[in-house]
Amino acid sequence: MKKDDIKKEIEKLREDINFHNYSYYVLDNPVISDAEYDKLMRQLEELEAKNPHLITPDSPTQRVGAKPLEKFGTITHTMPMLSLKNAFKFEEAKEFDERVKRLLSPQPKEEIEYVAEPKIDGLAIELIYEDSRFTAGSTRGDGYTGEDVTQNLKTIKSIPMRLLKGQRARGKGQEIETANIKIPSRLEVRGEVFLPLKAFEKINKDREKSGEPLFANPRNAAAGSLRQLDSRITASRPLDIFCYGVGVIGGVKFTTHWETMEALKTFGLKTNPLIKKCNGIEAVLEYHQEIEKKRDALPYEVDGIVIKVNDIEFQGRLGVITRSPRWALAYKFKPREETTKIKSIEVGVGRTGALTPVAIMEPVEVGGVTVERATLHNQDEIDRKDVRVGDTVVVARAGDVIPEVVMVIKEKRTGQEKTFKIPEKCPLCNSKVERIGAIHFCTGGLSCPAQVKGTIKHFVSKRAMDIDGLGDKHIEQFVDDGLIKDVADLYYLTMDNLLKLERWAERSAENLMNAIEKSKHPTLPRLIYALGIRQVGEHMAHVLAEEFGSLEGIIKTDKEILLAIHEIGPETAESIYDFFHEPHNIKVIGKLKKAGVVFPQMKKIAGKLAGKTFLFTGALTSFARDEAKDLVEKQGGKAASSISKKIDYVVIGAEPGSKYDEAKRLGLKVITEEEFKRLLKV
Ligand code: IVH
Repeated sequence: MKKDDIKKEIEKLREDINFHNYSYYVLDNPVISDAEYDKLMRQLEELEAKNPHLITPDSPTQRVGAKPLEKFGTITHTMPMLSLKNAFKFEEAKEFDERVKRLLSPQPKEEIEYVAEPKIDGLAIELIYEDSRFTAGSTRGDGYTGEDVTQNLKTIKSIPMRLLKGQRARGKGQEIETANIKIPSRLEVRGEVFLPLKAFEKINKDREKSGEPLFANPRNAAAGSLRQLDSRITASRPLDIFCYGVGVIGGVKFTTHWETMEALKTFGLKTNPLIKKCNGIEAVLEYHQEIEKKRDALPYEVDGIVIKVNDIEFQGRLGVITRSPRWALAYKFKPREETTKIKSIEVGVGRTGALTPVAIMEPVEVGGVTVERATLHNQDEIDRKDVRVGDTVVVARAGDVIPEVVMVIKEKRTGQEKTFKIPEKCPLCNSKVERIGAIHFCTGGLSCPAQVKGTIKHFVSKRAMDIDGLGDKHIEQFVDDGLIKDVADLYYLTMDNLLKLERWAERSAENLMNAIEKSKHPTLPRLIYALGIRQVGEHMAHVLAEEFGSLEGIIKTDKEILLAIHEIGPETAESIYDFFHEPHNIKVIGKLKKAGVVFPQMKKIAGKLAGKTFLFTGALTSFARDEAKDLVEKQGGKAASSISKKIDYVVIGAEPGSKYDEAKRLGLKVITEEEFKRLLKV
């Protein structure tokens, strides 16, 4: 390709990628598949790698910085970033409206036109576009000067690196009244960066698992994510933005706030779809009620609405007082945080046996919902926040997220408060409790009542014992009626038992009895998988079956032997060992055998590849990855999914991943697909 053509090709790819980004992240209406998008990105990456002098900072490949910063610089806002006066009651909003009318002279005869929009609970930022390119971005800071978080803002996919020309910026549900408006030479955009609630929950769950302190609310999580010196961390958090205003704009004048928002939309910036014109304060009240009703169903946290006088000339006449505009108001919802007292701490047992401490509190209304239980997550969180029974605490809830205890008000302590420790025995079945990472688990497995339903559901599922016709509802009915207490009881059910239950007729009962009978001959891996041992999925069940050849073999083994097996790490070894050393589990296994479930033996396959472990990386051309793994296993070898020194052959296909580098580092034997085929002789 000629030099000029390469440049053009790169430009074209960038423009296409920007447009698809916009369709996906701003309009939520993708027009190509993820694979097609990835392909465009790869093409651009390759061209840029070969022509590094053509890389520009606004290229879609440059969204994540290579190195962490040492510290943030500062950016002075050309126009101060103001804050809003709050109102909590309609009377206060009405007073605001009356003041607006009074201060406008000559007084308008008609009602004031407001624009109302959800008030997003995130953090305020400013984006600067020069000649359509995103050049800098900062936090609000003290209103005059903020932190330069340009690199981190670039990782937010709904922030365009280049503004779009009007005509391309149309999409589903995004009607644009002011298409083809000129893009100002300098455009300062203000908006709220936030973390969607689902992402907030996931981040906290991950942090809980790894024992890191949790974020108290989505706003803190968003701020924590944006103020990272390493933009790779920011990039791993799906932050999003709603733009709600402008600072200085060069060369273009808007007459209303509505028009400004429409223009931002045409430029490809993301604005809130719930924004609405409200004629007069009564209409604002209606909007407030409408959004408050929707609040729990929204995928992000909203703590009220913001109303703004639509007419920009009016805004100028109203002016600013003590750093808040007289033309805008935050009309808040009922708070999502309240204080109450902890009466006791209970421990709940989940489906997987995880123990969760729950604070039982004096009932309190939080954001319109009465709350009397709040999660305390785990022992580390209790210790970190120093939560004690009898404490006065702040509880919060966001969206449908389970309420949680945010902090203790220590000033309210009387000295009577009692510290709390998660018990050593399961409160439901009295089995030993063990701690893995930050979480405590009940080792009762198959016999713990809280785990029973979940365990049975897993046991009968398609990939496990495959008992057809036994749905979740039936299992709940059986357990609630005391008909079954563990998975083995299924094999002791009789026609009589079933026919006595509601909703069971001769035919369905007979079908179930047959399905149960049929399930008595599982393969060894299925039987192992069906037991629901923590950390033992289908793959691990295969590994165990092949290694030990029988369930008895696994029961008798010890931790050392388990640890010596490739792919079994300390946590899994511990979990397997504990499972088979819990007397309840051994009892249930005995009951299964007595009921006629056949425990199969599996001979070690002495194939050509016996004792050899393979790892695949990159795309193979002759077989699918799973096919290749099957072939290895058929010949007595093992296929690993993660790299370690125990691997004998690393088979590389096209575009091998990081495992290839790691293999070289470990000095493992690396072979091509052809060499692999020769080993198999296929
Ligand atoms: S307008 C002068 N609109 O609320 C007007 N603010 O205390 C400046 N916020 O700092 C703000 N959603 O972080 C505006 N739709 C919205 C908003 C919003 C959230 C935040 C913003 C601001 C704070 C006001």
